[in-house]
Amino acid sequence: DQILNGRGLLKGKKVLITAGGTREAIDPVRYIGNYSSGKMGYAIARAALREGAMVHLISTNPPLPHPEGADMEYVSSAVEMKQAVDRQYDTSDVVVMAAAVADYRPAAVADQKIKKETMTSPDLKLTLNPDILLGLGERKQNQVLVGFAAETNDVIAHGREKLVRKNLDLLVANDVSSPESGFHVDENQVSLLTPDGHVSSYPRMAKEDIGTLIIEKIASIMK
Ligand code: CTP
Ligand code: CA
Repeated sequence: DQILNGRGLLKGKKVLITAGGTREAIDPVRYIGNYSSGKMGYAIARAALREGAMVHLISTNPPLPHPEGADMEYVSSAVEMKQAVDRQYDTSDVVVMAAAVADYRPAAVADQKIKKETMTSPDLKLTLNPDILLGLGERKQNQVLVGFAAETNDVIAHGREKLVRKNLDLLVANDVSSPESGFHVDENQVSLLTPDGHVSSYPRMAKEDIGTLIIEKIASIMK
C-alpha cells in the first residue's frame, strides 16, 4: 500500500537523502548561503518512496512540502548536516548527497548582531567545512554512495574526479552554466557517471523525472 506507482525496486531499503543549501551563520541575523532550492533532493526522496524505500530526508528547506512518508530532519549548517548524516549512515543502504554544502563557514560566529560602527575591518575570515561525502566514502561498508557535481565547465572530467576521490558508486553531474537548468528551476540536465567509466547523458528534463531516473539507476547498482 505504501508503494504508489513504483515496482517496489527499493522495498525494505533505507535511503538517506540530503537536500538544499547549507546556511553558515555570521551572527544571529546573518548567514552565508547559496542558491540551491532543494527541489532535486526532494524529487529523489519522492521517487525512492514510490519504490517502497524507507526515506530519511535531511533538509535545509522547510518551505518545500514534506514528501509523504519520509522521515524529516531539518538542519542549517554544514557541521549540523554532517552530524545528522553520520548518525544515520551505518543503518542506511543508500546515501544521496544532493545538498549544496558550503565549502567554507565564518571562522567565528558573533553572538550578538554585528554593528557597522564597531566592525573595525569588514573582512570576514572563513574556515573550511568538513567534506561530508568524502568522509562517508572513506568508511563505506555496503552502502551505495551517490554524489552530485554542479559544474559550469568540463562537467564530465570534474564529475569523474569527484566520483573517484570520494569513493562513490554513482555521480550525478549537472551543467549549471545555462539558466534553463540547475539552480532555482524545475528542470535539469544531468549525466550519470559510474566507476566502470560509463557515462550516460540525458537531455534537459523535469527534476521529478530525473529523481526517478536516479532511483532506477541506484536500484540497478544494488542488484
Ligand atoms: N559535499 C559534501 N560536503 C562538502 C562539500 C560537498 O558532502 N563540504 C558533497 C555534495 O553534497 C556533493 C558532492 O560532495 O554531493 C560534490 O560537491 P561539490 O561542491 O561539487 O564538490 P567539492 O568537493 O566541494 O568541490 P568544488 O566545490 O571545489 O568543485
Ligand atoms: Ca563545493
